[in-house]
Amino acid sequence: MTDLEGELRSAVGAAHVLVDPDLRAPYETDWTRRFTGTARCVVRPASTAEVVAVVRACAAAGAAIVVQGGNTGLVGAGVPAGGEVLVSLARLAGVEPVDVVEAQVTVGAGVTLEKLQTHARAAGLDFGVDLAARSSATVGGMIATNAGGIRVLRHGSMRAQVAGLEAVLADGTVLTRLGGLAKDNTGYDLNQLVAGSEGTLAIVTRARLRLVPLLPARAVALVAVAGTEAALDLLTAARVQLATLSAAEIFYPEGLDLVRAYGRLPAPFGEPAGAYVVLECAAGTDPTDDILTMLSTCPAVMDATVASDRAGLERLWSYREAHTEAISAAGVPTKLDVCVPLGELTALVAELPETVARVAPKATVITFGHLNEGNLHLNVLDAGDDSDNRAEDVTDAVLRLVAAHRGTISSEHGVGRAKSPWLSLSRTPEEIAAMRRIKAALDPDGLLNPGVLLPD
Ligand code: MLT
Ligand code: ZN
Repeated sequence: MTDLEGELRSAVGAAHVLVDPDLRAPYETDWTRRFTGTARCVVRPASTAEVVAVVRACAAAGAAIVVQGGNTGLVGAGVPAGGEVLVSLARLAGVEPVDVVEAQVTVGAGVTLEKLQTHARAAGLDFGVDLAARSSATVGGMIATNAGGIRVLRHGSMRAQVAGLEAVLADGTVLTRLGGLAKDNTGYDLNQLVAGSEGTLAIVTRARLRLVPLLPARAVALVAVAGTEAALDLLTAARVQLATLSAAEIFYPEGLDLVRAYGRLPAPFGEPAGAYVVLECAAGTDPTDDILTMLSTCPAVMDATVASDRAGLERLWSYREAHTEAISAAGVPTKLDVCVPLGELTALVAELPETVARVAPKATVITFGHLNEGNLHLNVLDAGDDSDNRAEDVTDAVLRLVAAHRGTISSEHGVGRAKSPWLSLSRTPEEIAAMRRIKAALDPDGLLNPGVLLPD
């Protein structure tokens, strides 16, 4: 036992310092199985004070830290590169009573999205961000990556939900700003700086989150369209005509085939289509008639099926939400999460197959995502790991294509380790230099998530 492990045991209790390889293993590989590394040990603090003690012990020993929430990240930011102390925040799972007057709630970083949703709904409110990994994804990780999901159209990304944060800096200093004031112009917004910083500036331990009205009536339409251009025509009509629109998602026939085989789902329509769009409306009263009226007047609609009962909503959403699991069951994907202006979306989708085929002829690309934001999840399967056919080549080719279409290399998953070498495609040298100066000021020894976000 080294001094550091002893210090960590005093900080969190011996049962929560995992050194045995079998106990560490579930923390050391990411959800996609693409990123894996050996941690020096896994530490599981249960309070902010314990996080401070862990960080101070690591800082004194010069030991690097990698921070992990629900381990649902997709860019390798929450698993070790090799030799770091892995700090799991799963035990910071406390929820305070909902403040219904402010429509806010304070929760621990380790609270899952599902637990937060259940808690908010029991108080007659809801949380504005939702995503398929809700049962495992945690508030801390979602803030660190500025997660998006399926309701960004209505409520914005995770940053927009943050009314306050408590976070621990690399030297153990605790920044606490959990008051949740609606207006507060007293200088730099440190909470918003920490949100989206991927654990490189501070460890989020608690969050004060905004809540939104709980809308009891939902209607979902799964719509068959000819392709991306028609999907955008449908989106335009939906945005103009449906004040209650809460989600607009897209997927393509290759994804539908995979999802159907994985979930043993029936074909949603008699005839195949070029693309499929999921539209959801949420309101105080049943929005089905509004959706039906819009669909009946939109020329882009080839076919559509609409549901508003619980089972029907789940059934239609499953065609979209099962994509991630179905893809993962088919192999270890190279996941690229990109965003382009809507005017560039059709060209990007059209140019993608040839771009990938040039560097990985045997690869297949499964594309799906958040239509409203122009945010596509490009999942490349069988990109291969031999020298002629490498995942890095695919990443390079696709991210350059995205940049040429004025897009970003990360829309909502973050940069992590997966995309840090390509950061300069989305950020100017001046921006990267400013980010490095901020990092150096808050974490001068580079102990928090080294190698994540900023290229070495
Ligand atoms: C999604 O929108 O389903 C998530 O971002 C997960 C993924 O891209 O696989
Ligand atoms: Zn997504």
